[in-house]
Amino acid sequence: MSDVVVRQATEADIPAMNAVYNEYILDSHVSFDLEPWSDAKRLEWFRACAEDGYPLLVACEGDEIIGVSWSGPWRPKKAYRGSVESTVVLAPDAGGRGVGTQLYTALLDALRSDGFHRAYAIIALPNDRSIALHRKLGYREVGVLEDVGFKDGKFHSTMLMELALDDA
Ligand SMILES: CC(C)(COP(=O)(O)OP(=O)(O)OC[C@H]1O[C@@H](n2cnc3c(N)ncnc32)[C@H](O)[C@@H]1OP(=O)(O)O)[C@@H](O)C(=O)NCCC(=O)NCCS
Repeated sequence: MSDVVVRQATEADIPAMNAVYNEYILDSHVSFDLEPWSDAKRLEWFRACAEDGYPLLVACEGDEIIGVSWSGPWRPKKAYRGSVESTVVLAPDAGGRGVGTQLYTALLDALRSDGFHRAYAIIALPNDRSIALHRKLGYREVGVLEDVGFKDGKFHSTMLMELALDDA
């Protein structure tokens, strides 16, 4: 692997984070958002996640942000506080060389050290590479929600995957 550095995201990273993530909103079913996020919307989200203690990471190669991995509340009700939804997305040309493993491992390490209990990923299907990454890092397949989303003129199913963060 090349010299990829994973670090905490800062507010200054927001345009680059949006550049990476918005591609998947515009060009794929990976994200179920239908409109790209503005920097202002991402900043508001960032501040809310950071204030509540959810890790937000970026992978950098030189000055360029080539991947983002973040966590946020699984569900808004308070009893879900120990559970997070986890996400990892790389710039298209950054895939297939271990960066996803490096970045997502760092996110899970941060979640563990911050005392979170469960991580959940919702993977829009098909996405064999993402399922492989989640399996590799210990997530188990909980089930498939059939046709739960509608994007680009068709329904999409999602795979729900779960990781026990504190049962090792
Ligand atoms: C999913 C993603 C984060 C994976 O990151 P990556 O850097 O490409 O993954 P890695 O190189 O670390 O490989 C992880 C595992 O996936 C497996 N894998 C790689 N390509 C695969 C493919 N096409 N099909 C199935 N498995 C694959 C490898 O076996 C690897 O495990 P190994 O290292 O033990 O061999 C990245 O490809 C990506 O950003 N994809 C688009 C966005 C996305 O789908 N994000 C997930 C949203 S739920």
